[in-house]
Amino acid sequence: LVFENSISASKAVAKEIADLIKVKQAQKQPCVLGLATGSSPKGLYAELVRLHKEEGLSFKNVISFNLDEYYPMEPDSVNSYVRFMKEHLFNHVDILPENCHIPDGTLPKTAIRDYCDQYESKIEALGGIDLQILGIGGNGHIGFNESGSLQNSRTRLVALDHITRVAASQDFSGLENTPRTAITLGVKKIMEAKRVILLAWGEKKSNIIKASTEGPVTSSVPASYLQEHDNATIVLDKAASSKL
Ligand code: GLP
Repeated sequence: LVFENSISASKAVAKEIADLIKVKQAQKQPCVLGLATGSSPKGLYAELVRLHKEEGLSFKNVISFNLDEYYPMEPDSVNSYVRFMKEHLFNHVDILPENCHIPDGTLPKTAIRDYCDQYESKIEALGGIDLQILGIGGNGHIGFNESGSLQNSRTRLVALDHITRVAASQDFSGLENTPRTAITLGVKKIMEAKRVILLAWGEKKSNIIKASTEGPVTSSVPASYLQEHDNATIVLDKAASSKL
């Protein structure tokens, strides 16, 4: 779906999420959202906050699972995804803190394997993710599933690509301070989500959007797996769609 700009696109996606939350409320069911960080979903979260404040959209039945977190990472660090989610969404809506899940960047390494299995089990116990929001890395990563991630990959500790670390290094004031690893939801759980919406804005995403949507389905571009998802939409602004 190509929109004139990221603002109109973000509003349309927020509307879909709001409608889903309301349908689930009417059914007295939880609404399980898979959430992403990065610059791409910021406008979406701003619109969801507006819908909460101005139109009374409640998030009390929302259970969220974030895609990823740097490792190691303290939750109150300025670059943590915990802080990002609080700043852009959680602190401004009525979602219950106990319903917000973000991979824990403080675990000892030996505890990560079991923790990741439990993260997936919690999602499975709720019947899976109803709607997954994704951004896309310049190399086609989704979450932190870097090039080479398999379609059945599980939630796990991963090494970050050099290109991903370079992109993040501005936030960490230098490559030497940028984490080398992260915990990410695996491709398998992303592909099992009932609905997937990937957001990409700007000319700088246009090449990888072309590769992901018109190129072969390949582990070198993990976003290309979405071609095989039954209910995935790639939402773009004009600039991001310019190479299609
Ligand atoms: C990070 C995140 C991804 C995100 C990507 C793109 O690597 N872990 O989930 O999609 O950045 O970020 P942006 O939206 O800022 O381009």
